[in-house]
Amino acid sequence: MHEKKQFFIRDPWAFDPSFKKPAKTGDSLGFETRSLHAGFRPSDDLEHLRAFVPPIVPSMTYPYKNFDEIPYPVYGRTKTPTADILEQRLAALEGGQAAVTAGSGSQALFNLIFTIARPGDNIVTSLNIFGEGYKQAASIFPERCNVQFRFVENPSDPRSWDKEIDSKTRMVWVETPSNPALFVTDIQAVADVAHSHKIPLMVDNTTATAAIQRPLELGADIILLSITKFLAGNATVLGGAIVGPEDLTEDIRWNTTEFVGAIMQPFDSWMTLQYLETLSLRMEKHSANTQKVAEFLSQHPKIKLVNYPGLKTHPQYELAKKQMTAGGGMLSFVVDGGIPSARTVMDSFKLIIHAVTFGTSRTICMHPRSITHEHMTQAERDKAGIDDGLIRLSVGLECSEDIIADLDQALAKL
Ligand SMILES: Cc1ncc(COP(=O)(O)O)c(C=O)c1O
Repeated sequence: MHEKKQFFIRDPWAFDPSFKKPAKTGDSLGFETRSLHAGFRPSDDLEHLRAFVPPIVPSMTYPYKNFDEIPYPVYGRTKTPTADILEQRLAALEGGQAAVTAGSGSQALFNLIFTIARPGDNIVTSLNIFGEGYKQAASIFPERCNVQFRFVENPSDPRSWDKEIDSKTRMVWVETPSNPALFVTDIQAVADVAHSHKIPLMVDNTTATAAIQRPLELGADIILLSITKFLAGNATVLGGAIVGPEDLTEDIRWNTTEFVGAIMQPFDSWMTLQYLETLSLRMEKHSANTQKVAEFLSQHPKIKLVNYPGLKTHPQYELAKKQMTAGGGMLSFVVDGGIPSARTVMDSFKLIIHAVTFGTSRTICMHPRSITHEHMTQAERDKAGIDDGLIRLSVGLECSEDIIADLDQALAKL
């Protein structure tokens, strides 16, 4: 047996629901101020550089001062100075104690599950989750690690969440609003259920972002983020992060990230820091545009259903108003006639781009049935609201009249 080295192998994180740890930096400052200042002050951190913007430090190793003093970061597999600034800023924006980045949002989820679950454990979630998350839950982890996932029957009912939790449950996972059906889950109610079993609640805050929803303030314990989407805003960065108690983020860093080398690279971290400076402004404009587009679509005779939390017709409109400050930048809608109709509309767009991501400054459409959620069974898709005619729209920062005109001319082809 090797002696366990405390610095490199952390003790596994143990969740304590009675102990909420405060954010480390900037929690007394407003959101926009934190998005500009958290994690980096030119005068504090790099006196000799006096740079106005955070530096990109591409070094993957950090020399020892002497034999006994271990530098930190020590090696680029676990942390670099630029990723460190980004991690502090993300933690400050979500109001969490600490963060650890990952090569993508999907990898952040993988690292989290791999770190906290052991063979025989289970995780409770619903079918309202993104496609790659569903694949990890339905196939990768059950088949390769014997970690099972339980999809609750009725995610609107706290009793349904309660029913699936047992002594082997390690975490409850909620994505709200969900991709692509924009289902809204009651964060506070599910947090209460999870905590009554001494289990942490993880909320995927990718579609809303901290600019319009703060799950940690509503009782959640852990945040999953895809940075690839609104946070980095222009499909130029692939990245993800987990925000939460530092014992957890360091457990992930030293017991998983360390072995797979999966933190965000310095240049991508730096790009994200630049984008975060305008997150609040962008989410305001995304939300205003999406609201107008949703209202237009909901009046259109060729459309069966529009999913958008900012519409009064959304089944969880009141709940969305309670836990979000705006509707966000994504909606989805169902055209009559299934896949052939979706194909006609999507191939007729002149401005809107057909691509697999969301949260970009340009408006993007995507067909979940054939792209992201094709691995779900038909029964699961029916339950998750993924109709064959469902089109996901990530509404960009263009003039809303131009987006609406493009939708109008494409829908006229049906
Ligand atoms: C809600 C949500 N979370 C996480 C992810 C994973 O992010 P990434 O694409 O960065 O792996 C996605 C991707 O679509 C997503 O939609």
